[in-house]
Amino acid sequence: MRVLVTGGAGYLGSHTVTTLLDAGHDVLVLDSLVSSSRAALERAAEVCGVELGGPRLDLLQADVCRPEHYADAVVRYAPDGVVHFAGLKSPTESMREPAAYYSVNVAGTAQVARVAAEAGARVLLFSSSATVYGDDAAVPVAEDAPTAPVNPYGHSKLMAEQVLRDVHGSVPALSVAVLRYFNPVGAHPSGRLGEDPQGTPANLMPFVARVATGQCPELQVFGADFATRDGSAIRDFIHVMDLAEAHVAALEWMTEHTRDAPAVKVWNIGRGEGVTVFEMVRAVEAVTGRAVPYRVVGRRAGDIGESRAAVDAIGGEVGWRARRSVEAMVRDMWAWQEANPHGYRES
Ligand code: NAD
Ligand code: WQD
Repeated sequence: MRVLVTGGAGYLGSHTVTTLLDAGHDVLVLDSLVSSSRAALERAAEVCGVELGGPRLDLLQADVCRPEHYADAVVRYAPDGVVHFAGLKSPTESMREPAAYYSVNVAGTAQVARVAAEAGARVLLFSSSATVYGDDAAVPVAEDAPTAPVNPYGHSKLMAEQVLRDVHGSVPALSVAVLRYFNPVGAHPSGRLGEDPQGTPANLMPFVARVATGQCPELQVFGADFATRDGSAIRDFIHVMDLAEAHVAALEWMTEHTRDAPAVKVWNIGRGEGVTVFEMVRAVEAVTGRAVPYRVVGRRAGDIGESRAAVDAIGGEVGWRARRSVEAMVRDMWAWQEANPHGYRES
């Protein structure tokens, strides 16, 4: 298949590009590089033994909000499927800059969907988030749990889901799979690709990695008074390569099964296993042999005690399940971190 991957130079996008190439698909990445670098795609090309700019992998640098800069090229490429990762992803930043989040995540998604339909794509996968569920959804969280976002980022993802339902309503030949990710972590097993946050990381794993390398002195654990087995919060961490493989599986399944029955599917992408913040810290210490000093501080605003996915929907329909362990997540994250302490900036 020919696949258009928006945001393909980012963390989740670049790893998914490698699994698509390894599965034999050709990829055109559409990315403005606003929060990523071309180096990630050069590394993706390298680990897959293809050339960036060649027939199997190319980059179209453009803003998803400016279809006049990419629509013609996408129509010429005539992708069979589109994987739409491009977007802004910080809940905290979204409270400071809501308009940017609605513009890129909602209006940008509308433009990508319109161009995908115009180009004759049959399937569009969308990067949604567990953050669309309400704070008090029953755990494990099923796809039909009530949605109740608590910040502009979450609202923008839920609105984008609705945009895609409506586009499908008007162009039924374009089937849509909304993928709601839980907590992706880890890196490509080669150590050549990984998460490269700009500035101080806000998420747990990249921050813990900086503490383990000595770049940050200590981890602040945001709350140890949750009703969980050790008081720290529980999350459903999933290896980024499992998440990447979920995209290939979903894309192939949708292509085959929605040919005669166009559809909109909503699937959680998680492992279905809960891991506490303290358990994650201990796993990092065990794998790296480094101490991770930490201090318990107050809860972070908006944080919930437990988030964990029900994963039977995609398991039952597509047959995909996450298979990598917490140890693999930490081992691969650490290999990337040790070899690239400053991310892609050295390459
Ligand atoms: P990322 O920031 O690493 O990647 C996003 C990519 O989109 C970057 O390459 C960036 O340059 C590109 N981009 C941003 N705005 C753009 C625009 N206007 N036009 C074109 N390209 C643009 O983020 P990620 O972690 O890879 O996340 C990918 C998607 O998954 C996002 O939509 C995010 O909201 C969603 N998501 C991420 C997580 C997570 O924990 N990483 C969880 C749930 C959902
Ligand atoms: C995990 C746990 C923190 C950092 C976020 C977004 C969500 C989605 C995934 C995009 C929490 C604790 C963290 C630290 C800590 N992204 N923590 N010290 O909050 O589950 O989800 O990323 O869609 O929208 O909100 O992930 O990695 O930030 O936090 O104690 O320095 O680690 O309080 O309990 P979260 P996270």
